[in-house]
Amino acid sequence: MLKIMTMAVREIKTYPDPVLRNKTARVETIDDTIQRLIEDMVETMHAAPGVGLAANQVGVPLQLAVIDLSTREEQESRHPLLVLINPEILSTQGSVIAEEGCLSLPEYAEKIKRAAKVTVRAQDRRGKPFKIEADGLMAKALQHEIDHLNGLLLIDRLSTLKKDIFKRKYRKAALQKA
Ligand code: NI
Repeated sequence: MLKIMTMAVREIKTYPDPVLRNKTARVETIDDTIQRLIEDMVETMHAAPGVGLAANQVGVPLQLAVIDLSTREEQESRHPLLVLINPEILSTQGSVIAEEGCLSLPEYAEKIKRAAKVTVRAQDRRGKPFKIEADGLMAKALQHEIDHLNGLLLIDRLSTLKKDIFKRKYRKAALQKA
């Protein structure tokens, strides 16, 4: 029987879902399932809306992420939609502190220290290797998404004090929901 799939927006997993806390596996074969996953991730990211999404955020533990900064004015037309397969950070430079949020941590934002510039190597959706050098918002997004693929959330980049405050707030919110 032919099953027609119409739902392309996937559910975004939120903290403390364990799928967000495990390191993802390399994508070995870029097949139709991966292409479909990429399409769904782009649609899910745009619908949220967000500027980046890692595969484990939709429950698929693979090294794949998408970034689209086109809605952020200052980056307009500088970077097209970016698909990153098996990305890795080759080098970093400097540091910068900026506010960050995450679709897996709804209604949470905090100032995070990141490298100011990064060089990342990855494969595109056809499997072709490429390198990207970035600063500004793209550098932040690349580090954020690669952290996701390593099982890290932005709360792991907080000072111990701020992390404690987060956990207390989270517990309170979870209790109110229950
Ligand atoms: Ni995130």
